[in-house]
Amino acid sequence: MEKIKVLIVDDISETRDNLNRLLKLEEDIQVVGEAANGEQAVRKSEQLLPDIILMDINMPIMNGIAATEKISLNFPNIAVIMISVQGEAEYLKKAMMAGAREYLVKPFSADELNNTIKRTYDLERKRLGKMEGTKKLFGKQKDSKPQVITIFGTKGGVGKTTLAVNSSTLIAKKTKKKVVLVDLDLQFGDVSVFFNVSPKKSIAELVQERGQLNIELVESYLIPHISGVKILPAPMRPEYSELVTPNNVLEILTILRQNYDYVIIDTPPIFQDTNLSALDMSNQVLLVMNMDLPTVKNMKLSLELLDSLHHKAKTKLILNRASEDLGISAGDVENALDFLIAHQMPTDGKLVVTSVNKGIPFVLSNANAKVSKAVDQITNMVIEDTGYQKELMESKQKRKLFGKIFG
Ligand SMILES: Nc1ncnc2c1ncn2[C@@H]1O[C@H](COP(=O)(O)OP(=O)(O)OP(=O)(O)O)[C@@H](O)[C@H]1O
Ligand SMILES: [Mg+2]
Repeated sequence: MEKIKVLIVDDISETRDNLNRLLKLEEDIQVVGEAANGEQAVRKSEQLLPDIILMDINMPIMNGIAATEKISLNFPNIAVIMISVQGEAEYLKKAMMAGAREYLVKPFSADELNNTIKRTYDLERKRLGKMEGTKKLFGKQKDSKPQVITIFGTKGGVGKTTLAVNSSTLIAKKTKKKVVLVDLDLQFGDVSVFFNVSPKKSIAELVQERGQLNIELVESYLIPHISGVKILPAPMRPEYSELVTPNNVLEILTILRQNYDYVIIDTPPIFQDTNLSALDMSNQVLLVMNMDLPTVKNMKLSLELLDSLHHKAKTKLILNRASEDLGISAGDVENALDFLIAHQMPTDGKLVVTSVNKGIPFVLSNANAKVSKAVDQITNMVIEDTGYQKELMESKQKRKLFGKIFG
């Protein structure tokens, strides 16, 4: 089931923590981010596209009413719930005029909070459903939400680019939709090498263009590959990476998301600002790891960090080069991390390396190889947007039960 995505806006961090804690207990609610004032709220709304915003009224820089007005104008699908204290009736009226859908008066109970969020969400869905119906009549229906997928991992050489290139290729092949692969490994990005294309311009030149970016301009920097995937190449030289700021990344990804069905992002193995921008914008994160002890230790810390940044719920863990002869098993890894592996990719040194050297994704040249079939399954998971912890847990339990009966 799809979770209700909530953005928390309050200038007091303790209040945000409290709300976070209350909402963490709810299975069908996912906090996707926090903001400390109205201005941040407007920005984060655009990046995160939450379903619901819990909005404080009195905040510095831009108050909750001004922010609500902006958000409800620009993103009519996002429902704002105002949070106020007793005696702010006049403000509340203004907030409702500004477009807030509901309000909560402090102090409120966890139940009141959850019920208000769920009720507001349901009403909003109904309203949108009606609007979609009308749109359909006029033939303007856009078929599905764009998917922004970051391929991440905190160790070098674990297979992020290999997965990014091959899964993008398969997504394009299977869906026949618009797919773009952004090489955000700004220092040593090698997506173009994997695809055997030689770009003359890169993201570093794109961000130096003057004035507001638009899709025509961004499009002129994309390199089409015969697979159907378009590529936004990384800078030609490592030192140019500094030209690209986190805000540039947000701006580019926002434009791509509006114009492509799948935006896939390859990243370097660090928690740096530009990566964080990509993670913020993503609705799926594929976390790639290998099976050695330092990686497991790294991964444990990374998962904790991803959790504190509100990204853990959208994370799916991929174990690359999985094989049992390294002294630890996939089950050991899951136990150590307290996180289930969504998919595994086998080792196939010969095929994977020749494919890079030839510049042809192995899912095209050797579709029947084991490693290609593994990428095929991962691709299906991305397209269907499945593979989350809860689903994995359920299927694992089912498998256990099955084993008991038939094993
Ligand atoms: N399943 C696999 N079997 C065999 N070799 C693999 C496999 N996956 C990746 N490799 C090889 O491992 C090397 C690193 O892969 P890749 O470049 O995809 O990793 P990465 O995580 O993107 O690295 P970096 O952090 O440096 O960007 C490459 O030489 C690749 O061919
Ligand atoms: Mg890489």
